[in-house]
Amino acid sequence: METKVSCMMASVLLDASGNFLAAKRRGIVEGIDYASTGEIKKIDVSRIRERLDQDCIVLMNDLGYSTLGEVLNCNPFAKREGFWQEGGVQRVHLLNGTNAGVLLKELFQRDGVGTMVASDLYEGTRMARVAVLPGIKQLLRPLEESGTLIRRTEEELLKALNSFIVIERGQIIACSVLFPFFEDKCGEVAAIAVSPECRGRGQGDKLLDYIEKASSLGLQMLFLLTTRTADWFARRGFCECSIECMPQKRREKINLSRRSKYHMKNLQPDRSGIRLDTAFS
Ligand SMILES: CC(C)(COP(=O)(O)OP(=O)(O)OC[C@H]1O[C@@H](n2cnc3c(N)ncnc32)[C@H](O)[C@@H]1OP(=O)(O)O)[C@@H](O)C(=O)NCCC(=O)NCCS
Repeated sequence: METKVSCMMASVLLDASGNFLAAKRRGIVEGIDYASTGEIKKIDVSRIRERLDQDCIVLMNDLGYSTLGEVLNCNPFAKREGFWQEGGVQRVHLLNGTNAGVLLKELFQRDGVGTMVASDLYEGTRMARVAVLPGIKQLLRPLEESGTLIRRTEEELLKALNSFIVIERGQIIACSVLFPFFEDKCGEVAAIAVSPECRGRGQGDKLLDYIEKASSLGLQMLFLLTTRTADWFARRGFCECSIECMPQKRREKINLSRRSKYHMKNLQPDRSGIRLDTAFS
């Protein structure tokens, strides 16, 4: 911890005098003089990599430097994201530097306080295809036998296959299903499971993050029924609710004898650009 913190401090100091962005003046566009507003020409990816390889956190601001040494305000994030990815940088956190403690909150709170641009976050995560059915079954069967998940017949699984999301590392290591209820603008998260040897490494979070992109389908709320995993979902922003919060169509099919708890979470509008809609069309 000490090493990390001192490394962070070192990084802050180095970055304070760092010059990672080469910029040029935006100039006069359609008669408007953009004065000290700049456009990024180049990002010094190799120097950034060097710092990252030393386990440092690279702090960036919006300031770019022209060849004449002028300091320019280079604001457009979107353009910069493209540069990062071309340069092989896998994650960038965009933070509001005027908020006290923003870096610590971003790094140590689960949801953070900024915007993360990541190229690797959903690697291996995708909608299911028929070929993965045996892998899904293998993952779910022991959990059905222990009563953690409801039993689904082969036919039910096949019918639901288009709504399954899986994470694959050679084999299926995690899965979940999102049943959309479009008329009610909500979706049910079900059958979330991570293979026992891969638990505790954020795969469950990865699935849930992916599912939360469901706002791109026009869904505003997620809900679920759980008997043993309420705390896990509560830590991820789900609140306990009453059965009345479930869509009527779903309510009619609930097996009340399981005495499940009902949880829901309102979705934020998704701006990640990741779309699930083709999967459910
Ligand atoms: C719940 C589950 C999907 C989480 O997946 P995961 O990849 O292990 O989760 P993450 O790595 O994102 O999170 C792990 C954390 O969740 C906690 N956790 C795991 N199962 C939990 C449970 N049933 N209740 C509360 N917390 C739980 C772990 O202790 C760990 O806590 P920590 O971060 O404080 O160490 C996985 O444990 C699983 O497959 N469980 C069996 C199936 C299940 O219960 N499905 C839900 C049915 S509603």
